[in-house]
Amino acid sequence: MAVTIKSAEDIERMRLAGRLAAEVLDYIEPFVQPGITTAELDRLCHNYMVDVQGTIPAPLNYAPPGYMPYPKSICASVNHQVCHGIPNDRALKKGDIVNLDITVIKDGYHGDTSRMFACGDTSILARRLCRITYESMWLGIRQVKPGTCLGDIGHAIQQHAERHGFSVVREFCGHGIGKKFHEEPQVLHYGRAGTGLELKAGMIFTIEPMINAGRSAISELPDGWTIITKDRSLSAQWEHTVLVTEDSFEVLTTSDKSPAPPDTITHV
Ligand code: MF3
Ligand code: CO
Ligand code: CO
Repeated sequence: MAVTIKSAEDIERMRLAGRLAAEVLDYIEPFVQPGITTAELDRLCHNYMVDVQGTIPAPLNYAPPGYMPYPKSICASVNHQVCHGIPNDRALKKGDIVNLDITVIKDGYHGDTSRMFACGDTSILARRLCRITYESMWLGIRQVKPGTCLGDIGHAIQQHAERHGFSVVREFCGHGIGKKFHEEPQVLHYGRAGTGLELKAGMIFTIEPMINAGRSAISELPDGWTIITKDRSLSAQWEHTVLVTEDSFEVLTTSDKSPAPPDTITHV
């Protein structure tokens, strides 16, 4: 299957799905405090999606080939968990960092976005990792326009992460998205400038770098979903769903409270 070019109507519906996904993160932010469990965050988000928004939580029972059905409505990845953390009954502690990844389906279209949250005061390293990962995502997003290629996005992300001594997870990538949760193309978060698929107006895909404080190697937990860093170093991730416009990009997963893009990117 080739990369689909979205119609004007598809794009309008993806704008709505994207905003709704972001609004789940706006809603849950004040609850992310020491003492709450990720299962409770899952329950709150699930009810908000279903009862308030009238959206479907895409992760619930999602079962790509080779995977067991995902048992919860959100992903919650804490500290050295890289992605796909299954919400559970352990309470968050002061100093934890947690990625909450939300995918909603509205009128058959998917919106997919994640942010990092700090639980009370966190270490300087944790804060720096979250910030550099956020900047890396935005450096990738800012590459997006017709004529650039996927390698330019990956290169921008990898350069920024590595110049700060961090590493890029290779096994998971951004993805085309629309009526399907995961579709072509694969959007790698590393690579060589000037290589890979050329972007065209009307493509929609996610950019969602996973950046580790230590080495890039990962392991999978026996639950069949949760991914952790092999060296147990901290990991961070941010995700937006992005449209290629006629001359640049449009981020579809923004909302009233989504963090502003970085105005300066530090290189120290
Ligand atoms: N939201 C994740 C992504 O960004 C995918 C999660 S799959 C799930 O692609 F089943 F774990 F929810
Ligand atoms: Co995604
Ligand atoms: Co996601």
